[in-house]
Amino acid sequence: MSDRADRTRWTSPLRRRRGPEWAAQSPTWREARPALISDALKRACARRSGNWFVVGASRDVRAGGRPCGRTVGGVEVVLWRSDTGELRAGPGACPHLGAPLRDSRVVCGRLVCHWHGLALDGSPFAGWTPYPVHDDGVLVWVRLDTVGGEEPSQRPVVPVRPTTGSRVDAVFTTVGRCEPQDVVANRLDPWHGSWFHPQSFVDLTVVREPQGDDDDAFVVDVSFLVAGRLVVPVRAEFTAPEPRTVVMRITQGEGATSVVETHATPLTGAADERPRTAVVEAVVATSDRRGFALARAAAPALRPLMRCTAGRLWRDDLAYAERRWALRSTGRFPG
Ligand code: FES
Ligand SMILES: [Fe+2]
Repeated sequence: MSDRADRTRWTSPLRRRRGPEWAAQSPTWREARPALISDALKRACARRSGNWFVVGASRDVRAGGRPCGRTVGGVEVVLWRSDTGELRAGPGACPHLGAPLRDSRVVCGRLVCHWHGLALDGSPFAGWTPYPVHDDGVLVWVRLDTVGGEEPSQRPVVPVRPTTGSRVDAVFTTVGRCEPQDVVANRLDPWHGSWFHPQSFVDLTVVREPQGDDDDAFVVDVSFLVAGRLVVPVRAEFTAPEPRTVVMRITQGEGATSVVETHATPLTGAADERPRTAVVEAVVATSDRRGFALARAAAPALRPLMRCTAGRLWRDDLAYAERRWALRSTGRFPG
């Protein structure tokens, strides 16, 4: 088919919205039953993670780059790549006198401590024992059995994503004063969408609630607000495949099969009175539109925009999650 014929078939994903203004939309609080959300959260928390924790974006740990330091569940972790690009991870303190290995250097694929030059190639050495690590192509996961306390698994539960080569991905990270379950609970309340984020979502309807463990998804019709009254309507499904992950997958409409994965990683230990949690959100977008090939080519320029959109939503959603923790931790939680 010629380009011209192709262009004539092009239809815009944008629709003009005629729905009510913010205050005139139907309240959702009757449907957003606290018990329903809390049951969905309990089922999510009962799933297995195999002790895997998301620590960040794959592209942030670069071969030949500096090591990456993270704290997960109160455990200091250092990550780096070998010369051949393989991921390495282990305790963040040098086995000699405890220097912070995140500030060390990678030389020829080995991590060289900047205090006295001890070099680690990723294999056990002098009491330093590596952690299992997994690079899924978008995110890096580390397995910490002492933090997770579950039966360990070989691999993390990685959500199904659009195939490589047909997608654009971006990873956004922020940190809140709450526990992972507060982040997950926020995501398992889809009803707040067009009330709490009117600058991003309109006309949100939950068309199907979870039916229990065998069919545990929220299905939502919602329009993304683009500009003025122009919107992109989609159907999306929210699921929690493991205790610290919620996946939103577009099932119908523009960008079908695209996913937004929200991963909540505890930074502080279980006994910490002031818990902090990292929200690592991966947007993996696809589209069968012709223009999407251009978008893929422009991915480096698009990523900051995608992160900016996620950041705007998470400013609100972290306030929700932190508020939930503040109420829970003082016995004032309504649920
Ligand atoms: S503390 Fe690392 S080599 Fe001495
Ligand atoms: Fe939200």
